[in-house]
Amino acid sequence: MKNTDMKMHVRGRSLFIDDIPTPANLLHAVLFTSPVAKGTIKRLDVAAARKAKNVAAVFTHLDVPGKNQIGHIIEDQPFLAEDELMYIGQPIALVVAETRRAARAACKLIELEVEPGEPVFDPREAYRRGLIHGKKRIQVSGDTEQAFKECRHVIEGSTASGPQEHYYFETHRALALPVEDDTLKVIASSQSPGAYHHHIAEILDIPQHKIELEIRRMGGAFGGKESTAVWVVAPAFAARLLDRPVKLILDRNDDIATSGKRHAYVFDYKIGLDAEGHILAYEVDFYQQAGGCADISLPVLGRSFLHSTSAYNIPNVKITAVSCKTNVPPNNAFRGFGVPQAVFSMEAALFHAAEETGLDLEEIKFKNLLRDGDTLPYGMRLEQTDGVRCWETLDKRVDIKKKLEECEQFNREHDDRKRAAAVQPVCFGISFTQTTLNQAGCLVNIYLDGSVAVSTGAVEMGQGVYSKIALIAADALGIPNHRVRMEATNTTRVPNASPTSASTGADLNGMATQYACRELVERLKAFAITRFKHDNPRDISIQDGEVHLMSARTGYTWEELIRDAYSARVDLSCHAFYATPGVYLDPVKEKGRPYAYYAYGASLTEVEVDCLRGTYEILGIDIVHDVGKSLSPEIDRGQIEGGVIQGIGWATIEQIRYGDDGRMLTAVNSYKIPDLKFVPKRFNIHILENASNPYAVCNSKAVGEPPYIHGIGSYFAILRALRSVRKDKPAPSLPLTPEKVFMYLHG
Ligand code: MTE
Ligand code: MOS
Repeated sequence: MKNTDMKMHVRGRSLFIDDIPTPANLLHAVLFTSPVAKGTIKRLDVAAARKAKNVAAVFTHLDVPGKNQIGHIIEDQPFLAEDELMYIGQPIALVVAETRRAARAACKLIELEVEPGEPVFDPREAYRRGLIHGKKRIQVSGDTEQAFKECRHVIEGSTASGPQEHYYFETHRALALPVEDDTLKVIASSQSPGAYHHHIAEILDIPQHKIELEIRRMGGAFGGKESTAVWVVAPAFAARLLDRPVKLILDRNDDIATSGKRHAYVFDYKIGLDAEGHILAYEVDFYQQAGGCADISLPVLGRSFLHSTSAYNIPNVKITAVSCKTNVPPNNAFRGFGVPQAVFSMEAALFHAAEETGLDLEEIKFKNLLRDGDTLPYGMRLEQTDGVRCWETLDKRVDIKKKLEECEQFNREHDDRKRAAAVQPVCFGISFTQTTLNQAGCLVNIYLDGSVAVSTGAVEMGQGVYSKIALIAADALGIPNHRVRMEATNTTRVPNASPTSASTGADLNGMATQYACRELVERLKAFAITRFKHDNPRDISIQDGEVHLMSARTGYTWEELIRDAYSARVDLSCHAFYATPGVYLDPVKEKGRPYAYYAYGASLTEVEVDCLRGTYEILGIDIVHDVGKSLSPEIDRGQIEGGVIQGIGWATIEQIRYGDDGRMLTAVNSYKIPDLKFVPKRFNIHILENASNPYAVCNSKAVGEPPYIHGIGSYFAILRALRSVRKDKPAPSLPLTPEKVFMYLHG
């Protein structure tokens, strides 16, 4: 199906913020940020910077007319620092000048005296000192203590997973334009139209109806633009105070150094199995590397918490989760939203258990996969599970056992190269776990010529949500796809929109769109029966842009219908609203139905390690993935490819380093994301057939994040290859970089 954005992208015709022509009186904003990871501001003097050449203004928290806060969940995140400094890169002052160069030069004239504090970077250490965000969460289901007593095997261990840089093409940015009557138009790269709209108004202390926030598209976001509103709020704030257009663009290295990452985690696990390999009990503790303020860390941790048993049925479970307050930039959402971390620790425990017990790893996994009637630790009973079917389909396609034997055979024949494979199941819950966010609005306008414009709260970031919504609208109206155009996401058309995240963009906004289109069709049908002197509107339908009566063509076109309906004064504009029914989570009991449904999958990743050099190659990945009844197989394939590669990057080569003082040592020249050469040559994606889903629009399933989980298989395939060489050391943490592989083999 047509993806308009894709066509424009490849022709270089899509407009991003930096392509928008700016007014001649444009100013540029640059943030002056904290040089220390922890400290207290003793003196801040911006007088010299204010007097510098071409500088329009230097703002500090004292200039904020409203509430100096951008905390996403907890109000612990000042827009501009007041006295406490919590991480390197924390915004302290905003310099606005005629050019970016002048603004940067003026930053150097700001005098700052800080009383240094003692920073903490290790999440366990932060926890020990009581430095946590929110509360420690505990989930108990069954009785692990009793169950461990009955287990044949009990295995304990610890592991860790690292951070990940979002590396969207387009760094954080926004353009703010003052309009008449003290109103502002802000064009932003943001996933959260509603929340950012609210933040701007709060900081400026002006009503939200004086601000129009528009998001045409982002050059990628991957969760990184869902929270930490500072880079959008800052230019809006300056534009309003100076009554001039202001633009802020974060340089790539500033973006890497000062914006949040995927949360690193530390895990302690304990797993118990019976003689046949049934998992009877599992305990896990999550320590989340959250950063100086809470930002969106608690919802991310919540999703880890709810996915701690991954795709497996475990009757006795005890999970604890803490968000640790460490002195790094606040970490934020990243594709998977805490699920990859939870899945990694579950898989690490299983790998460890198979090794200790000698049981077959794949057999343990398959045996314990979630099936219909199983209950998750939070009390949700599963139905219509497709995990087993995904695994079996994969097995049919690749013959898992044979593949593993082939690897072993290869290893018997080779000393310097080792091959291994790993199977990774997926079970990913869909819905926002903050129940409130499961809502969406839509506005559909039909114009006199029969063309249609759809506005929703969904933002386009490359995932194809606009194309999917346009398809849903065309389908619901019964007209060709080219008659529908997606309008830029704009707070004046759809207010209070939830972020486009948790993979729910198409689910929620697509459903609202379908509702609006159906309502319009009802109105048009009621009008059309009068024209045909017929009495039952149910006998009318619109197909392929033509009115049908009793399923027969009438020759009466959509365009004629719209023109006549307009003349007859039929309302051709419709707003509709959708809220996912039945989802909730009891915050005290930690029980409920937090997700409307689950997306399933299974994959096999095969690798080859060069044992002399420590390098490796992903030889192939075979994926079976469940997208329900796909809204657009092309887009879904693209999402699966992108998600898996991003997951492989996290599990293998993407590494971030901080100095002892908390300074980011990684920059654009030292951060490696998977490139085309890294992508496996055998890359087979199979969309699970005959899948359906009564809980989302057109029986589809969300696809934005779940496929990321397949990437974790690359870590375990490499680990398996390493363990075939030696087993006398603990397994390295994730990511399993070539350096770590080399050190494991030779260090
Ligand atoms: N695909 C592209 N090309 N660029 C992105 O930034 N973000 C991912 C995923 N796919 C992203 C992407 C993330 S983190 C999410 S939550 C979903 O898209 C959001 O979009 P959806 O809800 O419409 O699937
Ligand atoms: Mo995606 S991490 O939920 O924006």
